[in-house]
Amino acid sequence: MPGTVIVGTQWGDEGKGRFTDYLAKESALCVRYQGGHNAGHTLVVDGEVFALQLVPSGVLYPHVTPVIGNGVVIDPAVLLAEIDMLEAKHIDTSNLQISGNAHLIMPYHQELDRVTERFLGKNKLGTTKRGIGPAYADKALRVGIRVQDLLDPKIFREKLDLALREKNGVLAKVYNRLPLDADEICDTYLAMVPRLEPLIADTVHLVHDALDAGQHVLFEGAQATYLDLDHGTYPFVTSSNPVAGGVGTGAGVGPLAIDRVIGVAKAYVTRVGSGPFPTELFDGDDVGELLVERGAEFGTNTGRRRRPGWLDAVMLRHAVRLNTCTEIAMTKLDVLAALPEIKVCVAYLGEDGTRYEHVPYHQSVLHKVKPVYETLPGWKCEIDRVERFDDLPAEARDFVRFVQELAGVPITFIGVGPGREQTVVLPRAA
Ligand code: GDP
Ligand code: IMO
Ligand code: MG
Repeated sequence: MPGTVIVGTQWGDEGKGRFTDYLAKESALCVRYQGGHNAGHTLVVDGEVFALQLVPSGVLYPHVTPVIGNGVVIDPAVLLAEIDMLEAKHIDTSNLQISGNAHLIMPYHQELDRVTERFLGKNKLGTTKRGIGPAYADKALRVGIRVQDLLDPKIFREKLDLALREKNGVLAKVYNRLPLDADEICDTYLAMVPRLEPLIADTVHLVHDALDAGQHVLFEGAQATYLDLDHGTYPFVTSSNPVAGGVGTGAGVGPLAIDRVIGVAKAYVTRVGSGPFPTELFDGDDVGELLVERGAEFGTNTGRRRRPGWLDAVMLRHAVRLNTCTEIAMTKLDVLAALPEIKVCVAYLGEDGTRYEHVPYHQSVLHKVKPVYETLPGWKCEIDRVERFDDLPAEARDFVRFVQELAGVPITFIGVGPGREQTVVLPRAA
């Protein structure tokens, strides 16, 4: 079964979008399986920049059917704005398919995301405030409203009234906010139906028909392994399952549908929002500043500065396990080019001196670990025009091999710049 998963191995923004775009060339379907418009996936093709949130990154190819699976949470207004943005750039989006089972992000989800973050004060998660957590919570509580509900105004209104009864109570009584108006929400959402209806499809069928026909199906993860609700640094996580296992529920396939799992890893690490980060380089650190500046480490959609740090091979190795990665795609190797030396975290030291080769399961331990680094020489020359692995400086090749050894699976692609063509393909292990 020719299914390939692209999954983030860190805390997001590894460059999943650019590799999805790269691999979509040989795919029939490109499927998002979780998350929502908390994602920001950037593609750069012939100098043109595309910042995507909901539409799968395979959309630039006319032969690819972009699919938004049932596991995604959709803000329909954001989706339509993204479609308009793409059409304005002459990208045909008419074959986009949306699962009728996907849940809708409603105005009260966004409002609750904002007020609960404020309520948490210094314990806030640093969410994207897009309503993601509250929308998934309602899905689990079984009071969510789905895309298919838009097709029946009566059902939509009934579900909305039911939801608002509770949400308005909470908003007014707990958070001292004004209640939301059902008529207004109904008008806004139902007005979008004529544009959305032609896109709604049985996406599970589409995926299986393609797999049965032996066509390549690419599953595009959003967020990443350490933002996973079950496997990430809880509670500083998102509310879905970005790990490769999430493809099963989020797109409607079993594990045997997947034969390739590509873990995307930056040559260093970034994180947006709160939570533990063992290899973090704190504000004012010269290397950290350089990574942020050279790597343009600001959120694609939110504009927030990303927290930088050295590559963490302990986390990478664990991510390889959690996702059964068959290989790694490394991005942003070019960003390291200015550094005289490069560090890689190979283990952690706990507060009591215990050495950890694996990510400790106890969050209190992880919060306090100190990274154990190996230091490698840098190469101090730009590599953004390199096309073949053998043409990289010896120090860069050694760095890639070192990380590959620690990860335990081959590195098969290297990004040397944001452009589609700035991709070095390794015919075999480095
Ligand atoms: P995603 O969320 O995983 O798809 O990643 P984002 O698009 O949010 O963030 C990755 C950023 O790095 C984007 O601005 C990309 O254009 C850029 N990028 C991706 N790969 C490379 C690379 O190999 N080198 C450089 N310099 N930039 C890259
Ligand atoms: P892509 O797909 C980086 C982070 C937020 C916050 C936490 C929870 O572009 O890699 P949420 O709004 O999901 O409830 O926020 O998760 N976060 C991301 N960080 N990249 C993303 O997506 C993210 N999506 C969510 O910053 O810490
Ligand atoms: Mg991103």
